[in-house]
Amino acid sequence: LHEKHGKKNLVLCGFMGSGKTTIGRKLARLTGLEFIDADIYLEAKEGKKISEIFAEKGEAYFRDRETAYIKELAQRDGIVLALGGGSVLRPENVAAVKETGLLILLDTPFYRIMKNLSYSTNRPLLNKPDKQAETHRLYNARKALYHRVADIAVRSPKLSEVLEKVVKNV
Ligand code: S3P
Repeated sequence: LHEKHGKKNLVLCGFMGSGKTTIGRKLARLTGLEFIDADIYLEAKEGKKISEIFAEKGEAYFRDRETAYIKELAQRDGIVLALGGGSVLRPENVAAVKETGLLILLDTPFYRIMKNLSYSTNRPLLNKPDKQAETHRLYNARKALYHRVADIAVRSPKLSEVLEKVVKNV
């Protein structure tokens, strides 16, 4: 699959709670590629939860570390990479992953995102008094960007549709 589209990796982007980690794991199992979640990778390297990094060092520090690890991971060969939701905000991150990977957007409906995020405590950007309003604001603010940067977009979070689109768009 990955060889067919001429790139080494499959990279998933999309909003927090869009299903990147869940779909990514399944995609990896199916293709035989190694699965790496960029947020889990960053937490392991930094020895801290993302919420702790935001609280102790701020978002700017987090974004710099995120860029460094994305560039490192983009050098790999044969991985399914689930990005953090804000990774595509920096053009240099997008360029790095697209050099070696097909960038797939999980364009998940808002109600599903809210459902997926309902028990999340490790998303500092959404820790606001009105979580739903803040999530909606950020979702709308980023929607166009996600579509602009991705090579392909998948409307449903169903694995079969992701595979179908990846195969069709090679
Ligand atoms: C963020 C998304 C998170 C995590 C951090 C910031 C964002 O990743 O990287 O909390 O700016 O959208 P997930 O999309 O995996 O939750």
